[in-house]
Amino acid sequence: MERLHTAAAPSSVAPEAAGHLARLFAMSPDLLAAAGFDGLLKEFNDAWEQQLGWTRAQLGTRPYLEIVHPDDRQATEREIARLAAGETVTEYVCRLLCADGSIRWMAWSGAPGDEAFYIVGRDVSDRLAMEHELAQRAERLQGTNAELQDFAYTASHDLSEPLRMVASFLSLLERRSAGGLDESGREYLRQALDGAGRMRHLIDDLLLYSRVANEEPRRQQVDLGELVADVLQILGPAIEQEDATIEVGHLPTLEAEPGQIAQLLQNLIGNAVKFHAPDRPAVVRVTARRTIGGTVVTVADEGIGIPDADQERIFAMFTRLHGRDTYAGTGIGLAICRRIAERHGGRIYVESSVDSGSAFHTLLPDAPTVPGTPRAATAG
Ligand SMILES: Nc1ncnc2c1ncn2[C@@H]1O[C@H](COP(=O)(O)OP(=O)(O)O)[C@@H](O)[C@H]1O
Ligand SMILES: [Mg+2]
Repeated sequence: MERLHTAAAPSSVAPEAAGHLARLFAMSPDLLAAAGFDGLLKEFNDAWEQQLGWTRAQLGTRPYLEIVHPDDRQATEREIARLAAGETVTEYVCRLLCADGSIRWMAWSGAPGDEAFYIVGRDVSDRLAMEHELAQRAERLQGTNAELQDFAYTASHDLSEPLRMVASFLSLLERRSAGGLDESGREYLRQALDGAGRMRHLIDDLLLYSRVANEEPRRQQVDLGELVADVLQILGPAIEQEDATIEVGHLPTLEAEPGQIAQLLQNLIGNAVKFHAPDRPAVVRVTARRTIGGTVVTVADEGIGIPDADQERIFAMFTRLHGRDTYAGTGIGLAICRRIAERHGGRIYVESSVDSGSAFHTLLPDAPTVPGTPRAATAG
């Protein structure tokens, strides 16, 4: 206790403290130095010799700029000029030349003094190599992704044409010659037409998905209430057929791509109408609420619900929890929804319990953080 007390008075411990500091100076794995504005290192620790391989004599007599990589010398001189002007320097990165001809990336902090400036350098070669590797991988991934998306688009686009032909000749056959077929012949024809229709849906959904994936949303002011009204119009026949009730709460205006948000609502409301319990018609509620920095749009139903274990995977492409005899569909709708939410910098998730219903929440941020486009910097 007594020691601690005296240690607080600097004058009485100066020689001892200086000894401590000298020990620490010598031990540091970082490069520490007091460097002169005359271009020479005045005092430097052992890390310089250990890490760079130059001898103490070499380091003490050669201008320090000589061990800076030639391409970094100008920038380094600029940083030294800043120190000379009394500024501090942080995270300045440059390359140093080692005695064996290799190169090390060092990150420097510097503080100005009267006749010298003080610098601390840390070897960041490994970190930079890792960052570089990561950036390269991200770039490769992005390339592969773009290629896949192109592929999905082209494939579904090119499948459309022959399918249209198959479907129209089947229809022609049905209209012109179905009379000449026996009962099983007509059944085959019906099955073929049904298959062509399903394939049409699949291709349309795939095209929709890749369009959402490829195109940057063009944001504008969107009246959610109007959008929902349009969507209900489109879903009219299904709503009528299922005898569904749709309740729409007060909906705000927000900044988004209207076409994509309409698609999202159509998929969610369409699902809510479709996945009603066998013994009761669908009751669907569309609501929205403000949250910090965004709006949460919710489509809730009182339908069959989704088991906990499936609540994440239903957003993946082609995932369906039922056979198509029970509920028709392609399994692409929610994947499209997730894409649309992500494209707007938001996300989508579901709360649900089996037999009592589901609520799909979509968070749409005001100031979007779309992957790849950082949030606008606030600093000037
Ligand atoms: N409102 C809902 N209630 C219960 N299950 C749902 C609901 N919405 C989606 N699901 C489940 O998630 C699956 C994926 O949905 P989606 O991608 O829209 O495909 P689809 O509607 O073509 O089957 C559905 O097949 C269904 O099993
Ligand atoms: Mg669906």
